[in-house]
Amino acid sequence: MPMKPIKATRRLALLTLSAMGAAVLALSAASASAQEQVLNLYSARHYQTDEALYANFTKSTGIRINRVEADDAGILARLQAEGTASPADVILLVDAARLWRGEQQGLFQPFRSAVVEQRIPAQFRAGDTGQGPQWVGVSTRARVIVYDKARLKAADVDSYEKLASLALKGQVCIRSGSHPYNLSLFGSVLEHLGPQATENWLKGIVANLARAPKGGDTDQIKGVASGECGVAVTNTYYFARLMRSTKPEDKDIVDRVGVVFPNQSSWGTHVNISGAAIARHAKNREAAVKFIEYLSGDDAQRMLADGNNEYATVPGVKTSNPALASLGSFKAETVPIAKVGANTVAIQQMLDRVGFK
Ligand code: FE2
Repeated sequence: MPMKPIKATRRLALLTLSAMGAAVLALSAASASAQEQVLNLYSARHYQTDEALYANFTKSTGIRINRVEADDAGILARLQAEGTASPADVILLVDAARLWRGEQQGLFQPFRSAVVEQRIPAQFRAGDTGQGPQWVGVSTRARVIVYDKARLKAADVDSYEKLASLALKGQVCIRSGSHPYNLSLFGSVLEHLGPQATENWLKGIVANLARAPKGGDTDQIKGVASGECGVAVTNTYYFARLMRSTKPEDKDIVDRVGVVFPNQSSWGTHVNISGAAIARHAKNREAAVKFIEYLSGDDAQRMLADGNNEYATVPGVKTSNPALASLGSFKAETVPIAKVGANTVAIQQMLDRVGFK
């Protein structure tokens, strides 16, 4: 990450100082670096509202944030390529499967923080082999089922298992099976159903597809609204985004589509995370811990969640999102997010065997 050029006024001051001898200069450099604490953040979150989140951190701690934005895969690749020379201190990614991959690649380091331990539930702290977690969830999103209200009833699609039922033949739309959002969902199902039933279930979904998997979650919602699909799978924030849109065509989509939080009478709806980790070679480790502690605070939790129509990870934090509020509260699964991540390897093999592209 390129460093910000020194401001002209400071450059002038430094020039003047240089005439005053090495000892004074050394002192001045020490105090300048004490004033200029920085945190290098690699983020896969690209939401405008996150700007306020970073500004507040700088305001309250004096630590300036240098930000690199890329997608999750790009960030992991960059960290690997940079190795020990990486300037990254904190990494923000938007899915458990990817965070787990980062841990496996040795890109993170464990950290201990009483604040984080007290605030973020154990379910969303991962990679702890005795020295503290290596990644923690800072916001959550539910993976829900949407359906065509003209063709189906909520009771027809109120569990993930039903996506494979004979009644839904030719009606299911879903993005690529090996997209991290689906790897995580299927990894969670594997934890609940076991390997044999999960593989059969995946085979059943493939047999029910209305079309070959394509597009993102919003495309699946649109497929339901257009009648091409009877039922589809999406993260909550994509639907909430459409609900909050003022475009007539989006309002029309929302009118046609019903939303179900699956598995309310069994293990609960699958919940994924956006999460933070400290980079393996962080040079500003103390600031990195401080930043993650800050992210677990009430204000930051609200900003993280509301900025992308997500939920807070910290229990009891009230977010303000009329769209999500209108969908109602729901029972979430309680599988540790680390297990979900670890299961994704077995899931990818199953997807290959059943031909789920
Ligand atoms: Fe997304």
